[in-house]
Amino acid sequence: MTETPEPATRSRVRSAVCPGSFDPVTNGHLDIVGRAARLYDQVVVAVLINKSKAGMFSVEERMEMLREATSSYGNVLVESFHGLLVDFCRERDIPVIVKGLRAVSDFDYELQMAQMNHSLAGVETMFMSTNPASSFLSSSLVKEVATWGGDVSHLVPPFVLERMKTKLSGR
Ligand code: PNS
Repeated sequence: MTETPEPATRSRVRSAVCPGSFDPVTNGHLDIVGRAARLYDQVVVAVLINKSKAGMFSVEERMEMLREATSSYGNVLVESFHGLLVDFCRERDIPVIVKGLRAVSDFDYELQMAQMNHSLAGVETMFMSTNPASSFLSSSLVKEVATWGGDVSHLVPPFVLERMKTKLSGR
């Protein structure tokens, strides 16, 4: 039988990480981060640095938008990471990853990552069901729709919309 790893932390501060690419942050992400911020003392939003995939926004720009979008929460930090998410968790004594599940199609891969992260470092993953209003929402679709002139104003915060318009106009 496989042994269960020791819990990743014994810290008294209940902290969690919300990882992702956030290129850019959407209202769906903010729903999950906001709900996590009500459950944990501290939530760290961790933006993946992925050198092999150029995004619409740089990691710094993504972090700026996330900071603006979460500034009212008071217990949310925005950081970036590269390499393994469990190493980021270990370095900061974070025992829990919070992920939103939109649909059954998310489940297989998310379960695989959760099991891998637990087997590597004892880091738990908590799945939160997304608000049904966001169940179809992804950063990739938002970018695609916006690129072809579709209205995404109900899917991202107003300042993200403005920054996307600026990017797309080449200014
Ligand atoms: O928003 P995304 O792109 O779906 O987020 C995916 C993310 C960043 C959560 C995932 O790719 C990740 O954790 N990457 C870090 C590398 C890692 O730890 N890989 C092993 C996962 S089991």
